[in-house]
Amino acid sequence: MQTHDLIGIGFGPSNIALAIALDEKRHTGQPVDALFIEKQAGFTWHPDMVLDHAHMQISFLKDLATLRNPTSRFTFVNYLHEKQRLPDFINLKTFYPSRQEFSDYLGWAAAQFADRCAYAEEVFEILPERQGDEVSLLRVRSRCADGSVRERLARNLVVSMGGTTNIPEAFRPFKDEPRVFHSHNYLSRIDQLGPLKKVAVVGGGQSAAEIFMELHGRDASTQVDLIMRARAIRPSDDSPFVNEIFNADFTDYVYDRSEDERTHLFKEFWHTNYSAPDLELVQQIFKVMYEQKVAGKQRHRLLRRHQVQEVRAGADGLHLRLLDTDGQLEHANRYDAVILATGYVRHQHKAVLAPLAPYLGDFTVDRNYRVRSTPGFRPQVFLQGACEATHGFSDTLLSVTAVRTEEIRCALEEGRAQAPARSRAAALQA
Ligand SMILES: Cc1cc2nc3c(=O)[nH]c(=O)nc-3n(C[C@H](O)[C@H](O)[C@H](O)COP(=O)(O)OP(=O)(O)OC[C@H]3O[C@@H](n4cnc5c(N)ncnc54)[C@H](O)[C@@H]3O)c2cc1C
Ligand SMILES: NC(=O)c1ccc[n+]([C@@H]2O[C@H](COP(=O)([O-])OP(=O)(O)OC[C@H]3O[C@@H](n4cnc5c(N)ncnc54)[C@H](OP(=O)(O)O)[C@@H]3O)[C@@H](O)[C@H]2O)c1
Repeated sequence: MQTHDLIGIGFGPSNIALAIALDEKRHTGQPVDALFIEKQAGFTWHPDMVLDHAHMQISFLKDLATLRNPTSRFTFVNYLHEKQRLPDFINLKTFYPSRQEFSDYLGWAAAQFADRCAYAEEVFEILPERQGDEVSLLRVRSRCADGSVRERLARNLVVSMGGTTNIPEAFRPFKDEPRVFHSHNYLSRIDQLGPLKKVAVVGGGQSAAEIFMELHGRDASTQVDLIMRARAIRPSDDSPFVNEIFNADFTDYVYDRSEDERTHLFKEFWHTNYSAPDLELVQQIFKVMYEQKVAGKQRHRLLRRHQVQEVRAGADGLHLRLLDTDGQLEHANRYDAVILATGYVRHQHKAVLAPLAPYLGDFTVDRNYRVRSTPGFRPQVFLQGACEATHGFSDTLLSVTAVRTEEIRCALEEGRAQAPARSRAAALQA
């Protein structure tokens, strides 16, 4: 069985950025033998949401490397240069490339670490390897596409698994129903359904707004109900002073606050990221609704202050019982498909790390994203993308990705240097 200094779970932007940071420092300190394990067959980045006209919600300067090392060859600018599009991109006069282009950039970077990533393997369990009264290594178990199980040993671990779909209670029994699906699967699932007369989109965030506009342009005979709990679609606030909360140094500020202060901060800035489409998109939706009024012909509806009470699937479609929370009125609607643009949850790490709970408790992290552990537990376990509660809104986004990888790399190096001689020797023997 192979032993690696570091195993990374997932090979999305967070771990690609870490692979770059490790590579760029390979000649300083102890070299790190890192392997990443990714469940997809090859690199893709939220592929079912690469919609026509969708663009990034963050400046390209917050790419995989620039904020850590502007001279890196893995910057978006160097990608453009290598693809011979730099002058043309400049003429676009934008900081926000299309999602298609940024996805291609991420794939270009990932491809340069193909020998350090095992694709098509899903990590399902991490077990402690005890030596006497110490845990010196971790056994990483993954399932390959053919169902076989593969095991590797790791001296350290970085868990960067992203989010999983948030499915509202009423829709949970419909996991195998092809006419109900989450925005995460939008393109591949909608394309399987053929022509649709009536579609419901649940949610009022960026995904819901993008999907609404995509359905509007897809087929002129499709009617869409946008069903949301809020009274209005509120745009994300990305004005410059507000946007400072996504600066890398704001992580210290958030981390140093008390829990109460953090709760207050999250409430104050919630709509910078969640339930908040770009203003431009909100204006496009408003225009579509307005033009219906001018034409005197209603095609789409905005069902604001509406909650889905009950769902029933029949041969003729999906029947939703809705509550209009303003008047407490109930009504029933039939749809050919329901798309849940209801966001994401980030608990996956708890399931794979469950066997380590006796050593890692409830998986709280220090400032360097390292999970706090009991004495005698030697491996360092880092979390990327699951620390929003302590590190702020940037944690699930690309905002601090490049800087965070340097913080993790330094903590990893420090931890390795401090490992007691006995456990270092044991780890080397394994
Ligand atoms: C549609 C969409 C658009 C977005 N656009 C932006 C944007 O413009 N700007 C921005 O800042 N943020 C954006 N985000 C937020 C997004 O979370 C980050 O951009 C980024 O993807 C975070 O990278 P990550 O590597 O932490 O997570 P992910 O990109 O989710 O990558 C996690 C990887 O881990 C793999 N994985 C999961 N479980 C396992 C397992 N058990 N074993 C092996 N591999 C596993 C997954 O397959 C995936 O490749 C967007 C999110 C969505 C859903
Ligand atoms: N082009 C891009 O760059 C792009 C595209 C898509 C997404 N993203 C990013 O991805 C992240 C997630 O965005 P998102 O739009 O997918 O999710 P989101 O912002 O979390 O929005 C989820 C929506 O679903 C609603 N919702 C959640 N649970 C519900 C329930 N049980 N019943 C009814 N409604 C429910 C929420 O309503 P309430 O407000 O009432 O809670 C909200 O309107 C954000 O960071 C976003 O910026 C980026």
